[in-house]
Amino acid sequence: MNVNDPQIATAFQEWMQIRKQELDQSLLELLPPADTRPSVVHEAMRYACLNGGKRLRGILTLGFCECFGNAKNRAMKPAAALEIFHASTLIHDDLPCMDDDAIRRGKPSTHIQFGEANALLAGNALLTLALGWMAETAVPLPHPPGMLVSELARAGGSEGVIGGQIEDLEAETAPPDEDRLIYIHTEKTARLIACACRSGAICGGACAAKVDRAGSFGMNLGMAFQILDDILDCTQSTEQLGKPAHSDEENDKMTSVSLWGLEGSRSKAAAYTQKALDDLEALDQPTEMLEALTRWLLDREM
Ligand code: IPE
Ligand code: IPE
Ligand code: MG
Ligand code: MG
Ligand code: MG
Repeated sequence: MNVNDPQIATAFQEWMQIRKQELDQSLLELLPPADTRPSVVHEAMRYACLNGGKRLRGILTLGFCECFGNAKNRAMKPAAALEIFHASTLIHDDLPCMDDDAIRRGKPSTHIQFGEANALLAGNALLTLALGWMAETAVPLPHPPGMLVSELARAGGSEGVIGGQIEDLEAETAPPDEDRLIYIHTEKTARLIACACRSGAICGGACAAKVDRAGSFGMNLGMAFQILDDILDCTQSTEQLGKPAHSDEENDKMTSVSLWGLEGSRSKAAAYTQKALDDLEALDQPTEMLEALTRWLLDREM
């Protein structure tokens, strides 16, 4: 498939836009109203989730459900759950005790707008809400009823996102170490992206082997995604990114760029992208739009 083909490019842009709009609408409706007591936490939760973002994880969940022949609505609540879980990791990631970043999605970070305690608690509330939404979603056979919940709990926990975030902080100012960087990228970023893909495949009724293949795709895409994020931190402006440029350098992070340089990072990202495309091919399902998404992410500028 040629994503530069204008017809495919147009179809892909429309495909993305429809899914993003539907996800935004679902989040608007599913999140507790801002005036629910205690309103400050609900305002902060809505602020952190309804402020843009690419909606990559949610779109992947919808896309994988659809490629197994099921309507995307079956995966809408899990897709929304992935997005609010992701938003909670962003709230916490921006806190002064972590990356100390004051801008997110082009606006003051949640702790700047609502204070640290409210931001911390809003993040925690989004985590538990996400698990609740997973529990409220029917899981088709042959998968066990609690599968979506346990997948997200594991991906987001101490052997997933939290593990990656811990080592990301520990590795500040540490000497370059490729194994460690791959662990960090895998756990803080790729694990949740893989969970999004697996959740969509589960909702779509995929067999266990295909759920695993969707997960493998997500791990490879997630690695490419974090490498690009590290590149963009060095090459784009704060305005373009909607979050502070050069934050990694300021925090002395161990990143793809500090380890492999810009060109080396670009070729690593291209290699992971190719592995992700190979996974899609091995799925043997209609994955044209997921393929376009995979290629598009490699060229993204924010
Ligand atoms: C940012 O994720 C955090 C990383 C894992 C790199 P995104 O780049 O997907 O952030 P949004 O959701 O589009 O704001
Ligand atoms: C964050 O990685 C990953 C998570 C939020 C789990 P980064 O710290 O690089 O993300 P940004 O650049 O702040 O979005
Ligand atoms: Mg971070
Ligand atoms: Mg950060
Ligand atoms: Mg970053």
